[in-house]
Amino acid sequence: MSAKIKSVLWKAPPHTLAKISILQAYLTRWFEIFGRSKSRQNLWYIDGFAGPGEYINSPTGSPVAAITSASEALQNVGSQWRAGDIHCVFIEENEERFAHLKNKLGATVSPQKIHSHFFNSTFVDGLSALRKQVHNPFLPPSPLFAFVDPFGATGIPFFDIKDLLSRESSEVLINFDSDGIGRIFRAEEAANHEEILNEVFGDDSWRTELAKHRVSHELYRGVLALYKQKLLALPKVRYVFAFEMRSAKNTIDYHLVFASQHPLGLEKMKEAMKTTAKNGDYCFSDAHLNQSAMFRFDEPSAYSPQLFEQFRGRTVSYPELNDYALNETPFVNPKSMLKDLEGRGMIQVRSGDPKRRKNTFNEENLIDITFQQGS
Ligand SMILES: C[S@@+](CC[C@H](N)C(=O)[O-])C[C@H]1O[C@@H](n2cnc3c(N)ncnc32)[C@H](O)[C@@H]1O
Repeated sequence: MSAKIKSVLWKAPPHTLAKISILQAYLTRWFEIFGRSKSRQNLWYIDGFAGPGEYINSPTGSPVAAITSASEALQNVGSQWRAGDIHCVFIEENEERFAHLKNKLGATVSPQKIHSHFFNSTFVDGLSALRKQVHNPFLPPSPLFAFVDPFGATGIPFFDIKDLLSRESSEVLINFDSDGIGRIFRAEEAANHEEILNEVFGDDSWRTELAKHRVSHELYRGVLALYKQKLLALPKVRYVFAFEMRSAKNTIDYHLVFASQHPLGLEKMKEAMKTTAKNGDYCFSDAHLNQSAMFRFDEPSAYSPQLFEQFRGRTVSYPELNDYALNETPFVNPKSMLKDLEGRGMIQVRSGDPKRRKNTFNEENLIDITFQQGS
């Protein structure tokens, strides 16, 4: 549907507005955290498919959301700001939308520390041009957040995503058209599938991996799983989460794939999702291969059996459990699930604190946790 949009502005469906509110909530925290901690380093936001800056029914497109977040963060952090300046890069291929965006942002007064850079080009060409600039986000050390929000499945080569994620403290949030990619796989030559899929996944592993799902209605899950696997295989990337965003009627609207090097990133992104889920008609589920578990942010017992199965019979450190909770459950840490399992006598907790009370999990004192063999 979106590929057919030809006008400069269009009406944003509710899921688009929800996506922008997640981005804005997250970015404010991102700028605040790095603003306080990254002494004299510039912070970079890259909007790879920036759009016109607004919608017929909303004044806030992603570039406006980013500038608003940056301004709010500067104000909130105030005199504790240690970082350098904030650089926002807006890349938009369509000439008229680009002109609209420049006008729109030109009319906005923002703090002196915020600098905008505009590229009327494709995402790929915009990144190449950016790399050649004297000040650019590819020079370490520069924390970098990229929002990659195309219409459809094309235009986001894995090469560029990998390059963005190879920087210290870099993160990406991708609106990933797994359904569209699945359709391209099925259409084969008629959709120029080899070239597109090699570009999206960075190699031809899709041939064997997606073939396993050829007859499945759930091909998009295989597409997402493979993409997630590719991201997690990148040297610095330890946290990857694919959120299915569903409307109240339970139809899947799109997927947001978030990749980060740091647990705090995924923790804050989940908090932004949770706030949006609370406020609106949207809910999220994690996009696992064989299931579509609706997120219950408030029900640890829905996830503790999965945690137990994963570690059954093993003795594990808390950090390992924390990474699992972040990557595989809606929670930002494993504590509520461990509480549930300890209450049912399914784990033994070893702590350096002789006074530790049952159902408390202070990671500073925890030595390890043993998951029973039987349940
Ligand atoms: C989904 S819209 C972006 C919406 C915007 N991120 C927001 O949240 O308000 C996708 C935009 O990407 C632009 N576009 C399409 N192909 C592109 C490409 N290869 N590189 C950069 N921009 C592109 C389209 O003109 C469109 O404005």
